[in-house]
Amino acid sequence: MESWQLTAWGLLIAFAFAAVAQQCTDDNKTYDDGEIYARDGNPCIKYVCNKGSVEISLLECNDGSEGCKPIGAKKTYFNGCLVMECVHSGNSIGFQFTKEACHDGTKCVDLNTESTTNCMTRRCEKNSDGAIQFTYTVLKCEDIDGNCLNPGDTFQYKFKDGTIGNSCTCTTDINASPVQVNYTCTS
Ligand SMILES: *[C@@H]1O[C@H](CO)[C@@H](O)[C@H](O)[C@H]1NC(C)=O
Ligand SMILES: *[C@@H]1O[C@H](CO)[C@@H](O)[C@H](O)[C@H]1NC(C)=O
Repeated sequence: MESWQLTAWGLLIAFAFAAVAQQCTDDNKTYDDGEIYARDGNPCIKYVCNKGSVEISLLECNDGSEGCKPIGAKKTYFNGCLVMECVHSGNSIGFQFTKEACHDGTKCVDLNTESTTNCMTRRCEKNSDGAIQFTYTVLKCEDIDGNCLNPGDTFQYKFKDGTIGNSCTCTTDINASPVQVNYTCTS
């Protein structure tokens, strides 16, 4: 062989060797230099083979059909009372609750605190399955002026249709679903 031929072969082998050396092996698979790939079918975490070493090229939260969301992205529910945020900590990345509260129709009520509307008191609680919801704790009777009275007391009451009863009482059932507060008037 001519010497220029030997040099050409040498260069070819050197290039081939360099190309192989720059490949990456990850998860029992071989990737070429510059190749971007995902593991475990998660499209929101991607890796790139950079001259033989594996680097992260995309790190976002997988929001299912909503796609990938960047770190810090928020999802809000119940008029902003429940907030989840894309958080990266240690080896994991995912949506976590950053605010957990119930919505009482007008405002947020923090977890483990109570809210009273129409003399009905509810406590915002987290179930064993992680769901956040109100649980009634006290039911009272509401008189014509909006005061809260005990069942058994006698008071003036204004029905929803505008009728006013002068001598009324109320009975409650906190275990019924939905809870019951009944008003009856004798005059
Ligand atoms: C990679 O291959 C080795 C040897 O075949 C095997 O024991 C191991 O479980 C494989 N790992 C993965 C992540 O597939
Ligand atoms: C309230 O009224 C309903 C309908 O009349 C009745 O079924 C229920 O038992 C009453 N509940 C209470 C706590 O009085």
